[in-house]
Amino acid sequence: MIWTIFLLFQAVLLYVVLTHRSRLKSEPPLDKGVIPWLGHALEFGKDAAKFLNRMKLKHGDIFTVRAAGRYVTVLLDPHSYDTVINDTDSLDFGRYAQVLMERIFNLRLPHHQPSKEKAMMKKHFSGMNLSALNSTMNRHLQVLLKAEMPQNQKDWKEEGLFNFSYSLLFKAGYLTLFGGEKNNNSIDPSYVYNEYKKFDSLLTKIARGTLKPEEKRTAQNVRHKLWELLATAGLTEDSGLSPWLRSYRKLLQEEGADEETQRRAVLMQVWATQGNVGPAAFWLLGYLLTNPEALTAVKTEMEISDTSLLDTPVDTPVFDSALEETLRLTAAPFITREVVQEKTLQMANGQEYLLRKGDRVCLFPYSSPQMDPEIHHEPQIFKYDRFLNADGSVKKDFYKAGRRLKYYTMPWGAGANGCVGKRFAINTIRQFVYMLLTNYDLELCDPNAQMPEVNASRYGFGMLQPERDLPVRYKPRNAHQDF
Ligand code: HEM
Ligand SMILES: *[C@@H]1O[C@H](CO)[C@@H](O)[C@H](O)[C@H]1NC(C)=O
Ligand SMILES: *[C@@H]1O[C@H](CO)[C@@H](O)[C@H](O)[C@H]1NC(C)=O
Ligand SMILES: *[C@@H]1O[C@H](CO)[C@@H](O)[C@H](O)[C@H]1NC(C)=O
Ligand SMILES: *[C@@H]1O[C@H](CO)[C@@H](O)[C@H](O)[C@H]1NC(C)=O
Ligand SMILES: *[C@@H]1O[C@H](CO)[C@@H](O)[C@H](O)[C@H]1NC(C)=O
Ligand SMILES: *[C@@H]1O[C@H](CO)[C@@H](O)[C@H](O)[C@H]1NC(C)=O
Repeated sequence: MIWTIFLLFQAVLLYVVLTHRSRLKSEPPLDKGVIPWLGHALEFGKDAAKFLNRMKLKHGDIFTVRAAGRYVTVLLDPHSYDTVINDTDSLDFGRYAQVLMERIFNLRLPHHQPSKEKAMMKKHFSGMNLSALNSTMNRHLQVLLKAEMPQNQKDWKEEGLFNFSYSLLFKAGYLTLFGGEKNNNSIDPSYVYNEYKKFDSLLTKIARGTLKPEEKRTAQNVRHKLWELLATAGLTEDSGLSPWLRSYRKLLQEEGADEETQRRAVLMQVWATQGNVGPAAFWLLGYLLTNPEALTAVKTEMEISDTSLLDTPVDTPVFDSALEETLRLTAAPFITREVVQEKTLQMANGQEYLLRKGDRVCLFPYSSPQMDPEIHHEPQIFKYDRFLNADGSVKKDFYKAGRRLKYYTMPWGAGANGCVGKRFAINTIRQFVYMLLTNYDLELCDPNAQMPEVNASRYGFGMLQPERDLPVRYKPRNAHQDF
């Protein structure tokens, strides 16, 4: 008995000694939270935006918090973001990405060459290859939309706007990027979407390692099903339909990835390419429907430009501003790096802080610049023309502390690790919104409906999602129809 107590005491003592950490004078303010080891992990997971704002009020634009045994230095001054984004020597992107890859997708790439992969992706999502993708996407969107709602339909059809946008764009994106239409053993994209949605709803918990036992089983089952569904994507004869995926497969093979590993990697690509577009289109349409003035402005611009927005680069500043404003309000990724060698971080105001090796650094652009009242007046409010000058040109001048900002909104990340699919994503959303608004009557079921609240557990994971859906109804327009 005595021995047990003694050993227990030793263990606790050892624990305290090992995890003890105090702030050095040169380091950012340290906030460990009251719970040993776990620190602030619970509050962080529940609503990261609220938590980080509370810490910001307490400590300022830079501070270190403990969460699940790790120390994370959070930087919230956009003027200082470049010092983190630029320093690829001391601050490593790959390691933390690898941790997430293993946790979420059960994936470990043997001889991973991220920069080669990035270059390959860039090639496929730009230039002539992008045009080809633009038009394939357009075709799939038309077919799917017509299947949902035949042109001769007279009655309203009711739908949740989130489910409608997400499912339609997921299916069109899946067919465009992962092939399938002519493939006679192809898989119904609705089936993939349904499985993916289950996976998506567990994603944040998988990433944080907070699944309950039964959720763990569900997650494993769904992941297995998706791996099966994706097993042949990009491998069949007719996958000339998705040259991008073919190149990706080839790269994986060169890296020595076996079949099993490849399909896991393909699921990761489904997530990277399909997880954000649908939710973004939902928020944009929702904001337009609940802001009639904005809806009219976007519709008017579409009537004037009067093209299918497909072949030639088009100029749609009003739409672009409305989308930028939507993403300002609803894109909330973390930009995370691991400190691989001790670094002195110089803030824009001249102050210097020491970063410890082994810690992580995290930027949260949602908090600032995107929702920062010093930068964006009334940041909670959707203003479709926030990114337009009085003369209708694109507004790029935003200020904090009297100085013009390089980063005034950051939905696509930044630097070498920014989104490679940005232009394709914008084009897709524009086509979808154009098709809906010009060929259908679309309205809120309840004309006084408000936008739903954000699901607070998703801060940090890209596009936010709503807590509940927004009921809308739509039917074909009576006028002559031609996509
Ligand atoms: C509204 C839609 C989208 C948003 C808001 C978005 C946002 C982002 C962000 C913030 C990152 C950086 C992640 C990080 O720093 O770790 C990223 C990465 C990426 N995005 Fe997007 N994205 C969107 C749509 C797309 C689409 C349609 C594609 C493909 C066609 C795509 C392909 C990728 C890829 C491949 C990466 C990984 C880049 C890398 O490995 O460094 N994204 N995206
Ligand atoms: C970071 O890199 C960008 C582009 O290479 C450059 O314009 C900028 O001045 C750099 N900023 C800092 C703080 O090093
Ligand atoms: C398009 O992709 C192909 C590979 O399928 C590549 O060889 C070509 O260089 C790309 N085109 C452009 C303009 O980037
Ligand atoms: C979601 O949307 C799709 C396509 O519009 C529809 O077929 C399906 O019934 C919807 N599901 C739910 C749960 O509303
Ligand atoms: C298509 O179906 C035929 C006959 O069922 C089969 O022989 C062929 O292998 C299939 N092709 C592909 C690409 O699955
Ligand atoms: C909020 O998001 C989490 C994680 O994706 C999900 O498990 C949960 O069901 C969502 N809550 C609602 C009300 O949709
Ligand atoms: C495809 O869409 C992007 C984004 O809207 C646009 O920048 C690009 O010009 C389009 N490509 C072509 C050639 O239509």
